[in-house]
Amino acid sequence: MKALVCRKFGSFDDLSIDDIADPIPSDRQVRIAVVEAGVNFGDALITAGQYQIKPSFPFSPGMEAAGIVVDVGADVKKFKPGDRVMATCVYGGFAEEICVDQSVVFPVENGVSFTTAAVFPICYGTARHALVDCAAIKPGEWLLVLGAGSGVALTTIELATMAGARVIAAASSAQKLQAAKLAGAEATINYQEELLRPAVAEITNGRGVHAVFDPVGGDMSEHALRTMAPGGRCLIVGFAAGRFPSIPANLLLLKEWSVIGVNTAVLIERNPTLYRSRFAEMMQWAAKGEIKPLVARRYPLVRAVEALTAVTSRDVVGRITVVIRDKM
Ligand SMILES: NC(=O)c1ccc[n+]([C@@H]2O[C@H](COP(=O)([O-])OP(=O)(O)OC[C@H]3O[C@@H](n4cnc5c(N)ncnc54)[C@H](OP(=O)(O)O)[C@@H]3O)[C@@H](O)[C@H]2O)c1
Repeated sequence: MKALVCRKFGSFDDLSIDDIADPIPSDRQVRIAVVEAGVNFGDALITAGQYQIKPSFPFSPGMEAAGIVVDVGADVKKFKPGDRVMATCVYGGFAEEICVDQSVVFPVENGVSFTTAAVFPICYGTARHALVDCAAIKPGEWLLVLGAGSGVALTTIELATMAGARVIAAASSAQKLQAAKLAGAEATINYQEELLRPAVAEITNGRGVHAVFDPVGGDMSEHALRTMAPGGRCLIVGFAAGRFPSIPANLLLLKEWSVIGVNTAVLIERNPTLYRSRFAEMMQWAAKGEIKPLVARRYPLVRAVEALTAVTSRDVVGRITVVIRDKM
């Protein structure tokens, strides 16, 4: 089968499309013919050797994928050949086939396209976990979302708005802020042009936000932290700016602020049944058209390196996919 292959950590130039052996499922695994795979910032990190998980070589990047089950291991009872599914696989998605543990495979409703399913697990899984388990966001609360045109941020805006929260979207361009408005943001701030703190103060009548969703990191994190009202909760989601932020502990004491890490792997470990039931529920929402990820670009597998380059370019609004096969 064809796959994008990484043989050493480093630059995208070292990645190549190769013919490799077809995967064989172990007893608990599902073998999926991948139709489309979501491209994530983490895919770039994993090929650079900068992700928390470092696969052994050779491996294919691709953290999430959607397709059709072609084979199952002896212990797999929930899936059968022909089922439409999506999976969170950490790596391996940019390939014609993948074998993944049944615990991270989820059904895809008939009315939901493979394009939507390809970008569904990571963004919707993370956003829901962040809002419900980590921030316990309540109707009427203000939520400041950084990097608001990014994949995970747009999904968070969509779900937070559905939950009745009031979202302030902050991003670096008018185009990103427009997408955030369409996802449900009530107010927007272009942080290339305006300082966050006074802008948030004006929008919230001086009260500040109840929570911050931060997938950006770097210097922006402290600016965002300082927009919170006493008792505010700051969600640390990622470091797209390339630097871990320093959080001043004295401010946490003075304002009773909480800083909470968001890692869906923790939820999967702690409560896999809840994680699975949420996907079933959110798939229903997607099938009814109540939620829809914004997919900006779709690249064929032979151009997967361009897709990875694009995801790190900072100029994409929404999500990117790699199309592995046109149809089954
Ligand atoms: N914790 C989890 O479970 C989880 C799940 C999903 C993603 N993440 C992490 O969240 C972050 C965002 O992921 P994503 O897939 O949504 O990424 P994305 O779509 O590529 O967006 C990243 C955003 O970060 C901002 N940014 C600021 N400085 C940047 C830089 N130097 N290079 C690139 N982007 C920069 C940009 O927004 P502006 O231009 O508006 O500043 C950009 O739109 C990543 O670090 C990812 O690893 C974590």
